[in-house]
Amino acid sequence: MQKILILFAHPKYEQSRTNKSLVEKVRDLEGVTFRDLYEIYPDFNINVLYEKELLNAHDIIIWHHPFYWYSCPPLLKQWIDVVLEFGWAYGPSGNALTGKKVMNVLTAGGSKEVYCSEGYNNYSIREFLRPMEQTARLCGMTYLPPFAVMGTHKLSDEELQVHANSYSQLIQMLKEDFPKENISQYHFVNDVPPLKANS
Ligand SMILES: Cc1cc2nc3c(=O)[nH]c(=O)nc-3n(C[C@H](O)[C@H](O)[C@H](O)COP(=O)(O)O)c2cc1C
Repeated sequence: MQKILILFAHPKYEQSRTNKSLVEKVRDLEGVTFRDLYEIYPDFNINVLYEKELLNAHDIIIWHHPFYWYSCPPLLKQWIDVVLEFGWAYGPSGNALTGKKVMNVLTAGGSKEVYCSEGYNNYSIREFLRPMEQTARLCGMTYLPPFAVMGTHKLSDEELQVHANSYSQLIQMLKEDFPKENISQYHFVNDVPPLKANS
């Protein structure tokens, strides 16, 4: 069974609706280590040694966050900056993460339609995520397509539950070493069968 590390970053979790529903479905699943970074490191003082131990002990890393200004909230960026050290995560002898998988799980206020060259955000979610995708590549990790819940302000409770169940299903699939085939052709992991059936 693949071990999954969820690094969750939400600066205002107490006001969250969307991520609260997603988190509740996955945080206690067997084989999942769930870390609420803002709860653990409210002062941004990240325990790098411990975070590296956690990375060593897991096969799949999930960067789970709301989309803030076309990126992730600052504590997750701080985590990337201080934990993915030269000579450990990348560089001539930096191969600690080689072969692991990583992906973004994100929620965004904007709908899928506005994230394209004709939409008012001009670029796709995948284009905005390029820095994180390339960070993963530089560290020798396989970057999986993101799981995205979009148009959060307009989601009904029922639609939100469908997404939350889908996230839980994704975690179960990842534990069983999904994907076996190449899924890089998909824009979002939400589009991969059988998750597609939920959307
Ligand atoms: C500071 C801030 C920046 C945001 N930036 C974006 C953005 O760039 N694109 C977008 O689609 N939504 C943006 N949003 C909307 C959030 O992504 C959305 O409210 C969140 O994903 C909903 O999840 P929650 O209920 O768990 O907070 C932003 C919200 C805040 C507070």
